Amino acid sequence: METILYPAHAPRLADMPATVDVFAGDGTEVCEDTLARPLKDLRLSVIDQCNFRCTYCMPKDIYTKDYPFMESSERLSFDQLVTMARAFVQLGVDKIRITGGEPLLRKNLEKLIERLAGLSTPDGRQVKIAMTTNGALLAAKARALKDAGLDRVTVSLDSQDDAIFKRMNGVGFAVDKVLQGIEAAQAVGLSPIKVNTVVQKGVNDSQIVSLARHFRHTGVNLRFIEFMDVGGIGAWSRTNVITSAEARRMIESAFPLIPHAGGKPASHDTASRFYYTDGAGEIGFISSVSEPFCGSCTRVRVSSDGKMFLCLFANHGVDLRPYLSKSRAPQGLADVIRHHWQRRDNRYSELRSEKDSAAGKKIYPTVRMSLVGG
Ligand SMILES: C[S@@+](CC[C@H](N)C(=O)[O-])C[C@H]1O[C@@H](n2cnc3c(N)ncnc32)[C@H](O)[C@@H]1O
Ligand code: SF4
Repeated sequence: METILYPAHAPRLADMPATVDVFAGDGTEVCEDTLARPLKDLRLSVIDQCNFRCTYCMPKDIYTKDYPFMESSERLSFDQLVTMARAFVQLGVDKIRITGGEPLLRKNLEKLIERLAGLSTPDGRQVKIAMTTNGALLAAKARALKDAGLDRVTVSLDSQDDAIFKRMNGVGFAVDKVLQGIEAAQAVGLSPIKVNTVVQKGVNDSQIVSLARHFRHTGVNLRFIEFMDVGGIGAWSRTNVITSAEARRMIESAFPLIPHAGGKPASHDTASRFYYTDGAGEIGFISSVSEPFCGSCTRVRVSSDGKMFLCLFANHGVDLRPYLSKSRAPQGLADVIRHHWQRRDNRYSELRSEKDSAAGKKIYPTVRMSLVGG
């Protein structure tokens, strides 16, 4: 992967072209990109390793034991992660999602969460801390995470059927343990919990209605995600995508739904939300392939070695590590982030149809998902 590197003698902001600062009525900064999208959500990856080998994310023939994962010394320390988060919060971020790889593999993660949960926005609101996990270690850690100040958790779960789940996670991990993790998270109040399911035609589309049935009446918000052309694997094909409309039709044949807000994602949200007409709860659909939502994308991603990615489909990261040194942080760091965000014009998904014209195949490189965390 090619990376834009800023060495120790990285350009001083005084040498960069001038940018315009915008301030809201209360004096807080509004940092917007070229398409007027404000910087709001930070996805902070804390590790690039994982205990699963999901076939669409880290296929085990590629992510072998010899795979060159980051050394622990290459990862940002907790101090550096907090400095990083602070700079983003100064620029408008009010929600931080901790991700990976598998974030629960990072030792003492609750200590980091405790520090991040102590951050407030310039106008005095507490920053919301969420996490995306495969749930394998959640049952054991839910209480400590909640006590540390984690607000919400999203669990990735692609099947309720044990055989399909074991096949998809690539390591034969039993689905019951993830379901126990979800229950433990609910029991300690990490709710409402979201469960994300990536659907692939012929792999787990048989699970759409059974997962809906399982999570009805539980308070868990199940969301189906269209299989995306992200990550380093070339296996993606448009023909493997089950669209949100197809998934919804399957569910509606068993459980009628009514749309929330016209069935469109609310601003800065990714999911179209629906309710079961019988009051059994909510269900969502994330349509990044069939109905891209680049126009409202307020997300920035930072890999565990400190590279900033302005789009999930980017292949280039800006190395922020040189700006973490005591002499440059936090102002130098915030300045460089602002500089890049204000020049951001990514709208990859909306332009995808031009790019994948080669028979709906992925023909261009993007950063691996285990580095930027989805
Ligand atoms: C990369 S994982 C990192 C966090 C954690 N290990 C987990 O699985 O929740 C984050 C999310 O990315 C999703 N993901 C990975 N590859 C994907 C793809 N090609 N299309 C859609 N979602 C994908 C996963 O299903 C997961 O929900
Ligand atoms: S989707 Fe999450 S759990 Fe699965 S291999 Fe990727 S990082 Fe690991």
